[in-house]
Amino acid sequence: MRLTRFPCLLFTIYCLLVLGLETQNDPGAIAQEWAPSWQLPQRDRPANIIEAPITGRGEMPEGRFFPPIICGACHTDIFQQWKGSTHAYAWYDPLFRALYQKGLQEAQGEQQRVVMDTCVRCHSPVGFTTGEWKATPSTPGSEASKENIFCDFCHSVKATTGIGNAPFIVDPGDAVKMDFGTKRGPFKDCPTTAHKTEYSELHTRSEFCGSCHDVSHAGSRLAVEQTYTEWRLGPYNTGNPATTTHCQDCHMRQRPGVPSTGSTERPDNPGFAAKKEVGGIERPHIWTHYFVGGTSLILGPILQEPERQKMAEDRLKNAARVELITPTAIKPGELLRFRVMVENVGAGHYIPTGLTEVRQMWLDVAVADADGKEVYRSGTVDERGHLEEDAVVYHTIFGNEKGQPTYKIWEATHIISDYRVPPKGQRVEKYAFLLPPDIKLPLKIKAVLRYRSAPQWLAGELLGDGAPTIPIVDMAEATAAVQ
Ligand code: HEC
Ligand code: HEC
Ligand code: HEC
Ligand code: HEC
Ligand code: HEC
Repeated sequence: MRLTRFPCLLFTIYCLLVLGLETQNDPGAIAQEWAPSWQLPQRDRPANIIEAPITGRGEMPEGRFFPPIICGACHTDIFQQWKGSTHAYAWYDPLFRALYQKGLQEAQGEQQRVVMDTCVRCHSPVGFTTGEWKATPSTPGSEASKENIFCDFCHSVKATTGIGNAPFIVDPGDAVKMDFGTKRGPFKDCPTTAHKTEYSELHTRSEFCGSCHDVSHAGSRLAVEQTYTEWRLGPYNTGNPATTTHCQDCHMRQRPGVPSTGSTERPDNPGFAAKKEVGGIERPHIWTHYFVGGTSLILGPILQEPERQKMAEDRLKNAARVELITPTAIKPGELLRFRVMVENVGAGHYIPTGLTEVRQMWLDVAVADADGKEVYRSGTVDERGHLEEDAVVYHTIFGNEKGQPTYKIWEATHIISDYRVPPKGQRVEKYAFLLPPDIKLPLKIKAVLRYRSAPQWLAGELLGDGAPTIPIVDMAEATAAVQ
């Protein structure tokens, strides 16, 4: 199912007009200079991270890429998994589009406009390589580039030149001539059928994901999304290939009923990558392509795929652990002091990660007396979805040139605060309040760790009155009684 094609076409034309008329830079030069975001030491690079010019804007004619439905004819299961994934909606995702549109309208000056010019590179990488999102307004996007992040992009990546900011070198076949070219992937022993295949070490490692999941600001160079960097510096990257847990090990082993996180098993998924009739071989493990994250909570209902929503919940509910550290005894009238520990047990990076200036993870802590009457609360969300000011929130706050907080990536110049939970790490929060002299003991304390992809006010600001209610997931909780 496609999210409203017609408004999208109008919107595209609008973007092309704005960008086409206002940006006078040489985009090719900017692309070369801005990507990669950073480079790995030589000894840590997979064979196909190389030093060479990346594929620039408009270098690939649009007809080179095959639409995913063609690959899906033989790779049926993988196609079904990918079809409703966030990658399949990276350009049409309502939150992305709203922020993108706002940026196009509000970005001021050369630097900020350059930033807006880079969004396409990860959110529609084929739109970038074909130059379609920058061409004359009369050129509609080709069928292939409308598919956002799809099979023939990822599997035509021959090499990258480092980490972050989309440093891709792509080598597709030629769909116009029905030539599939060579598809790169994890296998070394594929039969040649519709296409040639080639083993790619890059595709089997986090560095492949890290080419997009690590973003720095094209103007200020501020690191805005650092999922790969967080992973690289964290405990899941042991430096030993035998014990390292890559992004794929958690994210491409997940399937319904198998959350596949750091705190759950990550079993193999035996089966066929391509149907047996077309030459597929039965294999001990096939990497799944659901790519589920918090955004699937919002996309799930739109796509009417409740299963994906459930899978996103599965991830969140296996990402963290909450523990209450309370006094052994307390008397009415005394100061009650307790701590809440939040531990990241399941994610290979900080929680939250990625778009952390927008995501919200917080503690909802309540204390009730012996009758169940609430005597203390922190972290409530009111009926309009507004999270109370004094809550402990795990996220990042960007600052602009004037030193004010902002969620607008294009005007961000620095990070005001970054408070999140590192992989296999903890944060401990302190709570204290004075018990009324007539309070009835024992007390019951409850702490819940909650998550949503964006605060409700921001959804309202970006999406207007029609904004959906952003779903909240309870990730973990703990309770304790104090006598
Ligand atoms: C975001 C990039 C991305 C997209 C989009 C993508 N793949 Fe993959 N695919 C990968 C990676 C990475 C691997 C290998 C993972 C590993 O080895 O750790 C892979 C593995 C495969 C394999 C080998 C079998 C397996 O799954 O283990 C096939 C076949 C495949 N993909 C086909 C497809 C098809 C068909 C589509 C579109 C419907 C698609 N891929 C979309 C990244 C992608
Ligand atoms: C006519 C059927 C057919 C079509 C169409 C097809 N493939 Fe394949 N593909 C196969 C078969 C068969 C294999 C081998 C599977 C195996 O060895 O288990 C394969 C293997 C692959 C692999 C694994 C390569 C490796 O070395 O790990 C990738 C990636 C892949 N295909 C991607 C694609 C993409 C992308 C498209 C669309 C542009 C596509 N395929 C279209 C039949 C097809
Ligand atoms: C071509 C760039 C690109 C590559 C390569 C890529 N991603 Fe993504 N990924 C994105 C973008 C852009 C989004 C956000 C889509 C949206 O707007 O909702 C995303 C979304 C996701 C999400 C969902 C996030 C959410 O909040 O719901 C997960 C999980 C994910 N990617 C994992 C991976 C993994 C694992 C790999 C490597 C195998 C990978 N990605 C490779 C660009 C990429
Ligand atoms: C040890 C398992 C594990 C590894 C390794 C891992 N992740 Fe995750 N990832 C998770 C879990 C669990 C979540 C759910 C918690 C969350 O949404 O923050 C998650 C969430 C995400 C999200 C969604 C964040 C959001 O906004 O909801 C993205 C994007 C993502 N991972 C990308 C990656 C990339 C890229 C890598 C490799 C650099 C990676 N992950 C490595 C377990 C892992
Ligand atoms: C280098 C790659 C890259 C570039 C460039 C990039 N993004 Fe993203 N973007 C991502 C990835 C990866 C994610 C997924 C992270 C996550 O879910 O935590 C993402 C997620 C998002 C989301 C969240 C979508 C959702 O529904 O949750 C928004 C909004 C967004 N990007 C806006 C932008 C804008 C606006 C620009 C241009 C100023 C931009 N991005 C440029 C890689 C990129």
